[in-house]
Amino acid sequence: MLYSLLRPLLFSLNPETAHRITLNAIESAHQFKALHGHPIDCKRRNIMGLDFPNPVGLAAGLDKNGEHIKALAAFGFGFIEIGTVTPRPQPGNPKPRLFRIPQANAMINRLGFNNYGVDKLVENVKHANYQGILGINIGKNFDTPMEKSCDDYLVCLRKIYYYASYVVVNISSPNTPNLRQLQNTEELDHLLNTLKLEQTKLADKYGKYTPLVVKIAPDLETTQITSIAILLIKHKIDGIIATNSTLSRNSVEHLPHSSETGGLSGAPLTKLATTVICQLHGVLQGAVPIIGVGGIMCATDTKEKIDAGASLVQIYTGLIYRGPKLVREAVDAICK
Ligand SMILES: Cc1cc2nc3c(=O)[nH]c(=O)nc-3n(C[C@H](O)[C@H](O)[C@H](O)COP(=O)(O)O)c2cc1C
Repeated sequence: MLYSLLRPLLFSLNPETAHRITLNAIESAHQFKALHGHPIDCKRRNIMGLDFPNPVGLAAGLDKNGEHIKALAAFGFGFIEIGTVTPRPQPGNPKPRLFRIPQANAMINRLGFNNYGVDKLVENVKHANYQGILGINIGKNFDTPMEKSCDDYLVCLRKIYYYASYVVVNISSPNTPNLRQLQNTEELDHLLNTLKLEQTKLADKYGKYTPLVVKIAPDLETTQITSIAILLIKHKIDGIIATNSTLSRNSVEHLPHSSETGGLSGAPLTKLATTVICQLHGVLQGAVPIIGVGGIMCATDTKEKIDAGASLVQIYTGLIYRGPKLVREAVDAICK
């Protein structure tokens, strides 16, 4: 209700300013105890060895530095994912780099992993002392050569391993040059092998097993999806997130901002992401849990992700268009 009143005001601002103002307002509301929700009730489910209070999570990218973990959790999410974080701080792409397409309930972003670096994120996570399920999404710095990408993921993995409930290996952002090449079989085989070995060492060191999850793009051929699924099984990866934003502009070509470079998210992505989940599920058959994300704007979209084979779902753009009531709607769609 409150969000429907505020939305026209927020949408009159440029999207990045609106984003900052909203997060600060949510943070203040939380500090002053005006916002203190708990995860919305649902039958608990154990996935990747983690006990999820409900299956609806916040997708990566909204809280890149982990500055608002508890305030965002107060919307009732069953889990929160922060990041993408890179080893070193980086400013991201020049502004403007975030665009709304309200006629299509969509957004285009080319933020380019703007973040304060992994050390600052770890500090924020420690300070938050959040007891719920926290995913930390990791990536590479834009200026790290592709052949050294593995090192960036390793640096992040080592620094966050102890603090994360699960770690997401983001190889699917369209805004870091060539990042998506890491989805190719040879590159991915090497990356997953390296990270899995490190996970084993870190599990020993800390006496704690932190699941490794891979996040993929929606713009993949069926054969690539199959190859990725086979690699996940081969390397005993704990989960997969499908999908990141899309390079496609189908159904929005005629609308203002549609020709901006970047990843398209929201309603135009719904069916594409669901199709990828379906294809993954066809190969994985439950061997690796799928976290479904992409264009969840209502209860039906949520249900379709679960019916396609997702065990958990995440939301980003839907939250911008529908506000926090979408979280309850999504939980109810799955749990009632
Ligand atoms: C502004 C913006 C920033 C994003 N940043 C990240 C990011 O840093 N890392 C990541 O893995 N995904 C990022 N995403 C992708 C989302 O996590 C999600 O996969 C995608 O937007 C599809 O879901 P949606 O349609 O619910 O937004 C971002 C999305 C948006 C809109």
